[in-house]
Amino acid sequence: MFETLQAPPADKILSLIAAYAADPREGKVDLGVGVYRDPTGATPILASVREAERRLLETQKTKAYLGIAGDPAFCKAVQTLIFGTDAPHDRLKALQTPGGSGALAITMGFAAKLSQRLHIPSPSWGNHAAIARSVGFEIVQYPYYDAATGSVNFSAMKAALEKAAEGDVILLHGCCHNPTGADLNKDQWAEVAEILIARKLLALVDIAYQGFGDGLEEDGWSVRYLAGRLPEMLVASSCSKNFGIYRDRTGAAFVLGKTAEEAAVAQAQIMVVARTSYSMPPDHGAAVVRIILEDEALAAQWRDEVETMRQRITGLRKALSEAFRLRTNSNAYDFLMESRGMFSLIGVTEAQARRLREEFAIYLVDDGRINIAGLREDQVETFVEAVVTVKG
Ligand code: LMR
Repeated sequence: MFETLQAPPADKILSLIAAYAADPREGKVDLGVGVYRDPTGATPILASVREAERRLLETQKTKAYLGIAGDPAFCKAVQTLIFGTDAPHDRLKALQTPGGSGALAITMGFAAKLSQRLHIPSPSWGNHAAIARSVGFEIVQYPYYDAATGSVNFSAMKAALEKAAEGDVILLHGCCHNPTGADLNKDQWAEVAEILIARKLLALVDIAYQGFGDGLEEDGWSVRYLAGRLPEMLVASSCSKNFGIYRDRTGAAFVLGKTAEEAAVAQAQIMVVARTSYSMPPDHGAAVVRIILEDEALAAQWRDEVETMRQRITGLRKALSEAFRLRTNSNAYDFLMESRGMFSLIGVTEAQARRLREEFAIYLVDDGRINIAGLREDQVETFVEAVVTVKG
């Protein structure tokens, strides 16, 4: 049977992990997969996470199943982290998930039973379309990014959303847009909310980088605002990045219903999707997150650690745009300073990205996405020089 199979194309982001590891060149630069790196290039385990793991080892008495929705205490803590204290919590239901991708898979799997079309921004994280396709959605791309200015093309986005059909699902990035780093401002979020309401569209918000843009509270603003305005909504969140627990696969899915009863039924339907896929979420990472968020001192330490990561990214954005300004004698790269989160598009073609990899040992995604946190401060100038060289 298997002889008829063809190998699928390699994942454009994850294949870089192995390619980078196999590269023997000294001074290679990894701007590929979205993991935070400290100034030495390492992805350390946060001190708050280590402490929570120590406590978990000491206190955990069983590894018996928790159930399809995971640990209610984890769900409650993450719900407050993302939605704040003033949200309509009675109309919100949460599920612990295997990472942000797990949250996307079950929310999309659920939404695909209600709707045929999912609108995703162009560009978006590659796995959005892949997951959507796997659950049977027809995908419509809406214009999002203006490469000429490095910012959101809001008028085009709005015009496209205004044409969406009633009941369509609209995928939005809550903050730190992946791959562009270009986010909506508050006025634009308000306009989007009005379109969603007027056109009876269902929002699915992916928030995977809370804390890496303007701060934990600030980055949650979009979700909090929408939760206050919309009758119904889905949210997929990840703890991979802001807790640095990538391989522990920890995330959460949320459903906001018109009433508490409707939210509970929707959650039960999402649980069916989870049950027929991975059945129940892994718990180690979620337990760590719960321990941190439930302990005031540990939570404060974690918030400081997130802020340190955020500031490093912001500092690198500034250093990069200044180095480009000096080297190109133009403000063409100022957008790097105005964008948020780990990612930006550096504006290279696929061939130029390949050249950066082959000639300069700089690993970035083929679409020109760079993980800014992957740069070391002492690599900024070499990187800028290499980009200017390949662009000619
Ligand atoms: C990324 O965008 O690099 C991360 O979210 C990792 C992944 O799974 O693609």
